[in-house]
Amino acid sequence: MKILAPSPAAISEAVEALKQGALVAFPTETVYGLGASAVDANALKRLYAAKGRPAEHPVIVHLSDTDQLSEWVSHIPPAAMRLAQSLWPGPMTLILPRSVRAQDAVTGGQNSVGVRIPNHPVALELLKSFGDGVAAPSANKFGQLSPTNATDVASEFRDELAIVLDGGPCDVGIESTIIDFSQEQPRILRPGMILPEQIELIAGIKLQAGLWASSKTESTRVPGGLPSHYAPNTPLEIVSGEKLEESVRSRLESGKRVCVLSFRQPERSAVWVAASNTANVYARQLYSNLRKLDQQRADVILVEAVPTGSDWDGISDRLRRAASKIANPKDGQHDK
Ligand code: TXA
Ligand code: MG
Repeated sequence: MKILAPSPAAISEAVEALKQGALVAFPTETVYGLGASAVDANALKRLYAAKGRPAEHPVIVHLSDTDQLSEWVSHIPPAAMRLAQSLWPGPMTLILPRSVRAQDAVTGGQNSVGVRIPNHPVALELLKSFGDGVAAPSANKFGQLSPTNATDVASEFRDELAIVLDGGPCDVGIESTIIDFSQEQPRILRPGMILPEQIELIAGIKLQAGLWASSKTESTRVPGGLPSHYAPNTPLEIVSGEKLEESVRSRLESGKRVCVLSFRQPERSAVWVAASNTANVYARQLYSNLRKLDQQRADVILVEAVPTGSDWDGISDRLRRAASKIANPKDGQHDK
């Protein structure tokens, strides 16, 4: 595996690698993606193997231009087109009816395909030069935290990965908002930093109520079906602001090693990361903060509950999933 600073030569090398069926990790504005040619069945096999991901789990096809949409989807509802035109490139994925070109290895055998144009100059340059769809899940092993910088990508993989394009830290920090247009009424499958009210306004639609919460009861194909997604190895608990001090104290008194992610100032001997109380900044730093705390190998990571409100929904969704590892220890089988 090579880590390359972005340059025209690095992009050409990465494009060549993709054409030969190799895997290339690249930066996007949300998190780093683990890319494979979306039209190369062997490359897709390699992608699933490298990630350790079950075969029926669909991946997002990344494009550089809305002109490419018609190659991947059979139909674009006008509301989805309005979102594509006003929010792409950006942190949004649309689930649309698939074309014949979208193979089962991309769609997980479903009739729909996820597509996105990421807003990162390196990603756009790579996708444009490659000239076709790049399948890219987040560049982490299945069930682990998504990486938001090149070093975190490199720490997860060895030679199963040809190149990591280093585009610096990701600006958004949590994965794209996923909107499903494959059913009668559009709905959010995964909340992110593009908010429901923004989507409804731009698309001129009403999203199906209940949002992503309903996905928890559905099959593994829907994000959220697997609660251990986005989880650190250290057990993580979400604690309300009022109970935080007491929780930290009682753990320390019983000899536990505690780390904390909180809006407050550090306390006593716990390892403490002070989080921003601005949602955008909190999201940007979330995964690297959790990785930092995970590296402490403490007994527990206590995370102060975040405020309610749609701008925090994507964040609290990721925190809930990170915490659900405790309630669902069987999911630990997907650890490294
Ligand atoms: O921000 C992002 O979306 C990042 C960057 C790299 O673009 N990608 C990402 O990919 O988060 P991944 O594979 O880690 O998560 C994509 C989610 C999966 O949970 C998958 O189930 C869902 O999207 N997905 C993809 N295609 C789908 C489809 N046709 N129907 C339902 N869910 C789909
Ligand atoms: Mg992921």
